Amino acid sequence: MNLTNHQFRLAARPVGLPKRSDWNYVEEPVRDPGPGEVLVKTLYLSLDPAMRGWMNEGRSYIAPVGIGEVMRAGGAGKVIASGNPGFAVGDHVTGVLGAQEYALIGAEAARGLTKVDPKLAPLPVYVGALGITGLTAYFGLLEVGQAKAGDTVVVSGAAGATGMMAGQIAKIKGCRAVGIAGGPEKCNYIVKELGFDAAIDYKSEKVIENLRQHCPQGVNVYFDNVGGDILDAALANLARGARVVICGAISQYNSTTGIKGPSNYLSLLVNSARMEGFVVFNYMARYGEAAREMAGWMMAGKLKSREDIVEGFQTFPDTLLKLFRGENFGKLMIKVADA
Ligand SMILES: NC(=O)c1ccc[n+]([C@@H]2O[C@H](COP(=O)([O-])OP(=O)(O)OC[C@H]3O[C@@H](n4cnc5c(N)ncnc54)[C@H](OP(=O)(O)O)[C@@H]3O)[C@@H](O)[C@H]2O)c1
Repeated sequence: MNLTNHQFRLAARPVGLPKRSDWNYVEEPVRDPGPGEVLVKTLYLSLDPAMRGWMNEGRSYIAPVGIGEVMRAGGAGKVIASGNPGFAVGDHVTGVLGAQEYALIGAEAARGLTKVDPKLAPLPVYVGALGITGLTAYFGLLEVGQAKAGDTVVVSGAAGATGMMAGQIAKIKGCRAVGIAGGPEKCNYIVKELGFDAAIDYKSEKVIENLRQHCPQGVNVYFDNVGGDILDAALANLARGARVVICGAISQYNSTTGIKGPSNYLSLLVNSARMEGFVVFNYMARYGEAAREMAGWMMAGKLKSREDIVEGFQTFPDTLLKLFRGENFGKLMIKVADA
């Protein structure tokens, strides 16, 4: 095909916040797909806090990215050549494409690609609200958290990609939703635009006291995206039988002194509550069902999506840091190329 690929390959395991030199920016020719393989042109690259964890050595729910390997990344793209009967040139797909302009996907990995129709929803929506972050909110809240009508649901990282979906789904299910986010603009947005019942600005307010005020009957479901002190504040406000959903702990991902666990955990005992972590991949077999339900809510105007799209593949290392600085507003992604 005579195309040139650019890639970010892992060069070093970061200490603290990742920096540009933790990746090598490399160029290599694109090979034509062999039998079973699919060649995808990356159009949008998803940036996720989990990428920080994938750069670490050690046992996790998924193998670490090896030194020298293309940085793992989700995304959306277009099939430009195919040796796989399941995919035709012109198909749009989402899946693990890697931080690169062209992804040559092997026969086995191609099973993980999902065909999407850009006429039904814009591609960025498939990366965010109808993609991994939306699905994480859906299964985390409804399956792990068992949220039901009348519950008070508290979500941290509430103006982020996962959090804004979790809070809105809570409202759709008849819960009271209280969001915790950084800064007045984000707090205002989740209440005025997304219909949360209340918001707490953790950067300027006392979370523990304001939770008590906004959740007088206690918190039935706490959907945690951030960990650290905010998790402790939520634990201090649980209702009897509460469910604490450990979705993520972004406040801890770049710690150089070890991860700080909760000190208020005995609240689980006192309130006969439970705390449970999960990985969205556990629910892969049900992605289609959940995405269809969420798409229905979007079409009915009950569920809104918001994307934060940065132009330019080369910005990858700097754009990723926006997540850890709270500079993204909605699902963070990079627009790599035009269709
Ligand atoms: N379990 C799973 O399968 C799964 C799948 C996807 C994502 N996740 C997790 O879900 C969480 C959200 O991910 P996302 O992709 O939706 O990202 P996101 O919420 O769109 O972006 C990250 C947000 O985290 C907040 N943040 C950053 N540092 C913080 C700190 N020190 N304390 C409190 N908040 C901080 C910032 O918002 P503010 O401006 O409000 O501070 C930032 O905008 C992450 O923990 C991620 O690892 C889990």
